[in-house]
Amino acid sequence: MISVRDFGKNLKGEDVQLFILENGKASVYITDLGAHIVSINVPDKNGVLTDVVLGADNALAYAGDISYMGATVGRFANRIEKGKFILNGKEYTLATNNGPNHLHGGDEGFNHKMFDAFVDGETLRMSYLSPDGEEGFPGNLKFEVSFTLGDDNALSIEYKAVCDTDTVVNFTNHAYFNLNGAITEKTVYNHTLKINAEAFCRGDENCLADGTIVPVRGTGMDFRTPSNLGERLLGDDADIVATGGIDHNFVLAMQRGEFKEAAHLYCEDTGILLECFTDQPGVQVYSGNFTDYKDGKCGAYYKKHTAVCLETQGFPNATTFSYFPSPVLKAGEEFRSKTVYRFSVK
Ligand code: GLA
Repeated sequence: MISVRDFGKNLKGEDVQLFILENGKASVYITDLGAHIVSINVPDKNGVLTDVVLGADNALAYAGDISYMGATVGRFANRIEKGKFILNGKEYTLATNNGPNHLHGGDEGFNHKMFDAFVDGETLRMSYLSPDGEEGFPGNLKFEVSFTLGDDNALSIEYKAVCDTDTVVNFTNHAYFNLNGAITEKTVYNHTLKINAEAFCRGDENCLADGTIVPVRGTGMDFRTPSNLGERLLGDDADIVATGGIDHNFVLAMQRGEFKEAAHLYCEDTGILLECFTDQPGVQVYSGNFTDYKDGKCGAYYKKHTAVCLETQGFPNATTFSYFPSPVLKAGEEFRSKTVYRFSVK
């Protein structure tokens, strides 16, 4: 069942809505401002409903958020070096909003746009038309993200896009998971993380992928078997120390396609297990290294390492390195992608 309620107003004074997807056991809240996931309420091992994503209580708080809490990110998730890329021999210049680089769609990415919402049975469809030249990107891009909460407490997120010229795309959802519960203000040091990746992309001092792909074996990035997150985040791995935590793309595959388990996250204290599946070649794991947000739900203050994001996506800076999976979307071709976050207890 999907219902709707008022979520306040955005910066322009427009009405913002909150859509509630329910299956009788769990619920997911999504707003048409930036197609943000606002809440994911799932039962813990004692049956207590627990909201496992950071977020805020009203639309205005999202309008001012710079950490992309639960946002749908586009047109291009992650960083593009100096905000420049060449496509079909032409150079494009994008907004640079993260030091010298482009991040997450630019000054006003999808996270700040009002989406058109449409309830289609148990699926919530959110669409946005990004005009030619927006934030510097070529072509009129028709974008849709849809959310479905299954009976198995799996939230499916499907992305569709089509453009009238060749362009580049990279979409993700930027949910900040804390399986202790979002309002506990606890860190994720008690979480166990598994990532099905043999390698990760090294970042430079601005967290920009520098084109190097490094095997995880023998490093603090080796999460091929479930590992305690606190030990790694507070450990001495040079890449992790340099970024104050994890903020790296893990290599799931060198091409898009196969739908597979990317990662799982588990919290023994609540017994909540999150399994993440995707057809994307990468997952940016970000441990909230810069998080400092005072207007969280019910007044919660979210600090460093109080969440972990599993941002399924194409490779960062893929516009720069031809050996990375191509981010090019050809004119008239449909981009489609799916990510599932499934919740259970164990
Ligand atoms: C991404 C980036 C991080 C940070 C967050 C937003 O995950 O990789 O470096 O910018 O978004 O705060």
